[in-house]
Amino acid sequence: MIINLTINGDTRNYHGDPRSSLLEVLRKHFHLTGAKAVCNEGFCGACTVHVNGSPIMSCLQPIGVLDGADVTTIEGIASMDELNIVQQAFEDFDVVQCGMCFPGMVMSLSAFLKKNPNPSRDEIKFAMTGNICRCTGYERIIDALMSLQSLEQTPSQKNVEVAP
Ligand code: FES
Ligand code: FES
Repeated sequence: MIINLTINGDTRNYHGDPRSSLLEVLRKHFHLTGAKAVCNEGFCGACTVHVNGSPIMSCLQPIGVLDGADVTTIEGIASMDELNIVQQAFEDFDVVQCGMCFPGMVMSLSAFLKKNPNPSRDEIKFAMTGNICRCTGYERIIDALMSLQSLEQTPSQKNVEVAP
């Protein structure tokens, strides 16, 4: 079966088993290893990518239903010159520990900020419920995102598109 995809802005074709997960195809077929295979059961969020603009756990998504989909992975969330706003906040607050959860965190929280650019602390906590950090750096992650409240968020400056 042939699946046509756009991945990080590039047209790509997958020839293979439609039952394979998107995560497996991204990592093994396209060598995009930013999305992490941790639980492979939909619990940890480390495999989160965007499909048609929405965050999904790619370990649970069969590739066979994605013909024509627009996929963005952590490799495509920012430009070569400038970090995504969430990546930059994480760097500024030095929140990264082992880093295993961070690709998924960045993808989930970037999508969240598109819909809610000025979230409360509780809203950020709720938005993070699908992403487990085994190093338990949650408070600093929340602090980093709260710091964005004072910034003017423009798409060109922050690599975050504002939802229509
Ligand atoms: S690897 Fe997909 S949710 Fe854990
Ligand atoms: S930084 Fe280690 S799992 Fe989150």
